[in-house]
Amino acid sequence: MRVFVLAGSSREDSVNTRLASLVAAQVERSGAVVDLARIGDFAMPSYDGDAEAADGPPVGAATLRERLLAAQALVIASPEYNASVPGVLKNAVDWVSRFRPQPFKDKQTLLVSASPSMIGGNRGLWALRVPLEHLGARVYPDMFSLASAHTAFGDQGDLHDAGLRERLANTVDSFLALAEADTRYLCLQRRWYEFLGDESSAPVTQRAEG
Ligand code: FNR
Repeated sequence: MRVFVLAGSSREDSVNTRLASLVAAQVERSGAVVDLARIGDFAMPSYDGDAEAADGPPVGAATLRERLLAAQALVIASPEYNASVPGVLKNAVDWVSRFRPQPFKDKQTLLVSASPSMIGGNRGLWALRVPLEHLGARVYPDMFSLASAHTAFGDQGDLHDAGLRERLANTVDSFLALAEADTRYLCLQRRWYEFLGDESSAPVTQRAEG
């Protein structure tokens, strides 16, 4: 299984990039293949419908879409800006959502965050769920938010706190188990829609696709 791990910050010393690296290491330990990236690897202007009509999506959005399509699962490590999603990340989601088939649809997705605050960026993740779930991503119910992130990492990049290390590992492992089952057992895909009160041929399903 291939897992795309995306850090939602381009900052050199980003705590979310550090958290994304820990997630990537845990994914590798589980035997899956990791593709690790930062949002700044995918340069794109602010979404503009006229620019899209004239030139199509920018190269950065097309590249991000390809990396997304190549993976069976997605992990986003996102900062919280003003209790919400950083604009650069939402802008990338908006551009990528314009491709057909729509690449977030059915994508098993785990959200994690890190912040110097006591909340750990958790409100930003709740905001990030909204567009992703709207697009049909299967956003894992559990999330991981690292509080006091500026003091949480040791010299080797690991978390000081053994309890948090264990919680992160358990969250990633549980998510991967579900993502793998969903990838291998197609009957689970139907179960998701039944769980959502939907049927695979119902219009709401097509809406997520379109
Ligand atoms: C922040 N930061 C922040 N932190 C937080 O916990 N809640 C918030 O609402 C905000 N709001 C916010 C807005 C803006 C515009 C900036 C630049 C920053 C602080 C943020 O969590 C901190 O800068 C992190 O270090 C950003 O993540 P990276 O870049 O280290 O991954």
